[in-house]
Amino acid sequence: MPDPSADGGADRREAAMRKILVIGIGAGDPDHMTVQAIEALNRADVIIIPDKGSEKAALRALRLEICARFLRGDGHRFVDIAMPVRAASGPYRDGVDDWHAAIAGEYRRRFETELSEQETGALLVWGDPSLYDSTLRILERIEASGLALDYEVFPGISSVQALAARHRIPLNRIGEPVLLTTGRQLAARPDGIDSIVMLDGEQAFASIDGQGLELFWGAYLGMADEVLMSGPLEAIAAAVRERRAQLRAEKGWIMDVYLLRHSEP
Ligand SMILES: C[S@@+](CC[C@H](N)C(=O)[O-])C[C@H]1O[C@@H](n2cnc3c(N)ncnc32)[C@H](O)[C@@H]1O
Repeated sequence: MPDPSADGGADRREAAMRKILVIGIGAGDPDHMTVQAIEALNRADVIIIPDKGSEKAALRALRLEICARFLRGDGHRFVDIAMPVRAASGPYRDGVDDWHAAIAGEYRRRFETELSEQETGALLVWGDPSLYDSTLRILERIEASGLALDYEVFPGISSVQALAARHRIPLNRIGEPVLLTTGRQLAARPDGIDSIVMLDGEQAFASIDGQGLELFWGAYLGMADEVLMSGPLEAIAAAVRERRAQLRAEKGWIMDVYLLRHSEP
């Protein structure tokens, strides 16, 4: 006969663990929300909205729009978390480490105060949580700091997929690899490799040898102000640079991503 008290103990321990749903919400268009993401959102008692300051107000507005459109009923609470800011000076890795520690501390504090052990919280992650996003690393840190969490991940449409769809292109040439990288790392890419570049505040594409490369660029993908440009890198680099600067000045912020692909012979 199984020992019922032993099973019950395990159940109680499981029940006493906060549940966090990490939900990819797509890259800017509420229509990017998958059915799975919508269902996960509706399971949450508490929806956690990171507040990254006025520059990212438009991104926060999108999260709220998604909630207004897809949440059923009114049994959900909203919690704002003021996101710590990364130090602009000092070594990059150290800066990121300190920044993640600060975010983990803030999240842990809010999980403990805003979410009971029987409740479920939702973190709405831009695009897909696996791509240049630290939410999953931060949850690991929180667990390592001693707060038990049970979390699930729901993939979202990333800006990379949105870029490829809007330009109507495959990301890879037949049988070829593609490097996913950042503006900071672009110059260090291996010779001959096609690259998808995110997080490029410096327009690194304009500082590399553009011979034989095509650029597929997209800004504000999925949003009302979406801009697409494409062509041989050498021919359009200056125009993209100029357009980017103009858009950034007009809106006060920009998000752009691009593919650098070798021209087919
Ligand atoms: C912190 S990363 C987050 C990426 C996100 N997890 C994803 O799956 O797309 C932010 C970068 O993603 C890219 N990005 C995200 N959304 C975008 C959009 N709507 N249009 C263009 N680029 C976007 C930009 O390169 C931006 O610097």
